[in-house]
Amino acid sequence: MNEMLNVALPKGRLGENVYDLFARAGYRCPEIENPSRRLTFENSALGIRYFWVKPSDVAIYVEKGAADIGVAGKDILLEYRPDVYELLDIGLGKCRMAVAAPKSFREDHKKTLRVATKFPNIAKKYYASVGRDIDIIKLNGSIELAPILGLSDVIVDIVETGATLRQNGLEVFETLFGISARLISNKASYRFKREKIAAVISGLSAAVKKETEND
Ligand code: PRP
Repeated sequence: MNEMLNVALPKGRLGENVYDLFARAGYRCPEIENPSRRLTFENSALGIRYFWVKPSDVAIYVEKGAADIGVAGKDILLEYRPDVYELLDIGLGKCRMAVAAPKSFREDHKKTLRVATKFPNIAKKYYASVGRDIDIIKLNGSIELAPILGLSDVIVDIVETGATLRQNGLEVFETLFGISARLISNKASYRFKREKIAAVISGLSAAVKKETEND
């Protein structure tokens, strides 16, 4: 029997680039290339099935085994620490995690720092490492608004081009770490579908290498 490999792709522009990489690695699925609202696609001849998943949910699908493998940002892996294997840096979705604030911001160590973020665990860990007392304000998006409206002093957020910060009068005060998309695997799937997953890793590695050489 041709056992299927279930792949969770992050829905959106990153996911489309990730699918292109899978396609170049030999895992095309023509159905997924036509615009539609469907969320699952399979190529039974190749034994592969793709799902479009909200990017921040990919790690949950993989951890629970609903998907065997998937692609998630390093930010999500560091924030949620899912119990999965991280197999490969696929080099897409490059950005960084940073502390940003209005240009006029000055640190006042006598006060608890108010930090708005979608990434409370990352923010807490960073500020604990520098011994700074903080209050976390957990938001779900448009984080840049928080310091503008006085809801927080700083933000801990993703910076890609820097355009959102610039256009809102904010700047980076500290870069915490670089981020890129990672291939992850469910732990049991990695044992039971080892050969299939190994073939995906080597196909993707070769495609990533080619991409880097063409850069
Ligand atoms: C992310 C991030 C920043 C922006 C950074 O937000 O939270 O707001 O992208 O990108 P830039 O440096 O290229 O401007 P996203 O688009 O995911 O939306 P969100 O605000 O709803 O989280």
